[in-house]
Amino acid sequence: MNIILLGPPGAGKGTQAQSLVAERSMVQLSTGDMLRAAVKAGTPIGLKAKAVMEAGELVSDEIVSGIIGEALDQLAPETGVIFDGYPRTAPQAESLDALLAARGRVLDHVIELEVDEDALVDRITGRYTCATCGEGYHDRYKLPKVAGVCDKCGGTEFKRRPDDNEETVRTRMAEYRAKTAPILPIYDARGIVNRVDGMADIADVAAAIAKILDSRT
Ligand code: AP5
Ligand code: ZN
Repeated sequence: MNIILLGPPGAGKGTQAQSLVAERSMVQLSTGDMLRAAVKAGTPIGLKAKAVMEAGELVSDEIVSGIIGEALDQLAPETGVIFDGYPRTAPQAESLDALLAARGRVLDHVIELEVDEDALVDRITGRYTCATCGEGYHDRYKLPKVAGVCDKCGGTEFKRRPDDNEETVRTRMAEYRAKTAPILPIYDARGIVNRVDGMADIADVAAAIAKILDSRT
């Protein structure tokens, strides 16, 4: 099964992808995570992407479709994929069709997380991740069970993203409205879009997604 999680910054794409990975034998392909890894490693792609990401703008279609193609080539054909943060533009949606078709993969569902934009700033500015394993947390909505200790790996160092300040979040939202939301009709026309209330509790959003994924299996 191959699915896209679509929604504005802070909608919960990464949170839900992580829970799907934990519960099903699926792999999360997050272009944001892959680009952040490239920035950290100082690769040529990372050097190009750094300033663009810090400004909240979109990295070029060629770069992100290239890294998705490479990531797909590392996977066994039967491994299900969760696309998180990709595609984000009409050319990326076209590239994804070609990348999937070339590998005999079918896109089963596009899950749109519907959210109230005002709440997203609060979500994004409150979030942080484990510096060791990448598990996501939030100052108010998802705290580690033991304060200061990662539930997943026991790590005690946490970090925040440089693009998680209010000004950059506003730019990221404007990019979403202008370039990403317009790709939804492409998938609506194929009858594969499922809309989920992304304002519900994390567990309820996960349950709604699970119901959709299990509906045709
Ligand atoms: P990316 O990393 O994809 O960031 P984003 O789309 O802005 O999404 P986020 O990661 O901010 O949010 P999310 O929806 O995953 O929410 P999360 O689950 O963390 O992209 C970053 C940058 O990389 C882009 O700006 C761009 O420059 C570049 N880039 C990436 N992909 C690209 C592409 N395809 N093309 C071009 N450029 C690209 O949740 C947020 C917080 O809320 C968490 O703390 C979580 O615990 C909490 N939370 C989640 N769900 C709930 C809930 N239901 N209730 C309460 N709290 C919740
Ligand atoms: Zn951890």
